[in-house]
Amino acid sequence: MSSKKLQFSLLLVAVLMTAGTTRADKLTYYCSAQEDWCQLMARSFEEATGIDVNMTRKSSGETFAQIRAEASNPKGDVWWGGTGDPHLQAAEEGLTEEYLSPMRGELQDWAISQAESSGNRTIGIYSGALGYGYNTELLAANNLPEPACWNDLLKPEFKGHVQMANPNSSGTAYTTLASIVQIFGEDEGFEFMKGLHANINQYTKSGSAPIKAAGRGETTIGIVFMHDAVKQAVSGFPIKVVAPCEGTGYEIGSMSIIAGARNMSEAKLFYDWALSAEAQNLALQVNAFQVPSNSNAETSSSAPDMSMIKLIDYDFAKYGSSAERKRLLQKWDEEVSTLPQ
Ligand code: G6P
Repeated sequence: MSSKKLQFSLLLVAVLMTAGTTRADKLTYYCSAQEDWCQLMARSFEEATGIDVNMTRKSSGETFAQIRAEASNPKGDVWWGGTGDPHLQAAEEGLTEEYLSPMRGELQDWAISQAESSGNRTIGIYSGALGYGYNTELLAANNLPEPACWNDLLKPEFKGHVQMANPNSSGTAYTTLASIVQIFGEDEGFEFMKGLHANINQYTKSGSAPIKAAGRGETTIGIVFMHDAVKQAVSGFPIKVVAPCEGTGYEIGSMSIIAGARNMSEAKLFYDWALSAEAQNLALQVNAFQVPSNSNAETSSSAPDMSMIKLIDYDFAKYGSSAERKRLLQKWDEEVSTLPQ
């Protein structure tokens, strides 16, 4: 056994002993990252601990809504992955549990800031910048200019060529809405979203669906996290990844324990394990190219280089607050999604 594995096994024993409860040996795990990564995390945790995992994958906004709907009778134990904003909203609404993991010392500052701004009810597990990707073959076949900026997506020739997710269900799309508002200001940002709406062919439920569709040639452009576009390119699809010239927002993918979890000690075990370098390195097996929050975990050489991207100072406290997320989504529903296309 490697010394790291041994260290982790000892940690597991310590956590089990301090938990002092009889283990039910099961865990209900809500996952909002990519399906293949969610599955791999579930199976690997089962192998590491013998605990049976029941996993459900839903988008970030959908999982938030489910946890809120189940609040009086919680069914989930831990929520792993998905953008940080709805995790912050869940924390503010008391839907998630305060927890100080012994693994915190191994984490990057941005992961800890996420925890601190939520009263330790959520924590950063990965980060990644927003952007878009396009299918180079479809772009050429349709004689379209190469887009490089957010504003390029408003060009009339892109009508019907752009796809993004619905910001109510998808954390990716909410990050898009909040980033555009932060880049252009609220009024101009909403004008941008209206102009974009005219070019959108479909709002999908899941955040990464648009770039998978672009890979298959069903849409030319997909607005997604850049790492999701890289995954398609690495898989052999003709996708070019764009870091928009005006600058862009980013996510702190997060994890939270659900308040009143039935399997609380298993949830804490999962939480500690998911913060370990070993667990975070599983990302490499499924081409998940986010930046991991454990300082000892590996970042793939295919991952978008965050230091080369013009990142905005995304205001997580504001855009992850319950009032602001509700307000922006309602405004988008009323002023953008209802417009004719
Ligand atoms: C993809 C990305 C993740 C992101 C997630 C949000 O899975 O790889 O980095 O956190 O999307 O999903 P959603 O469906 O809520 O947009």
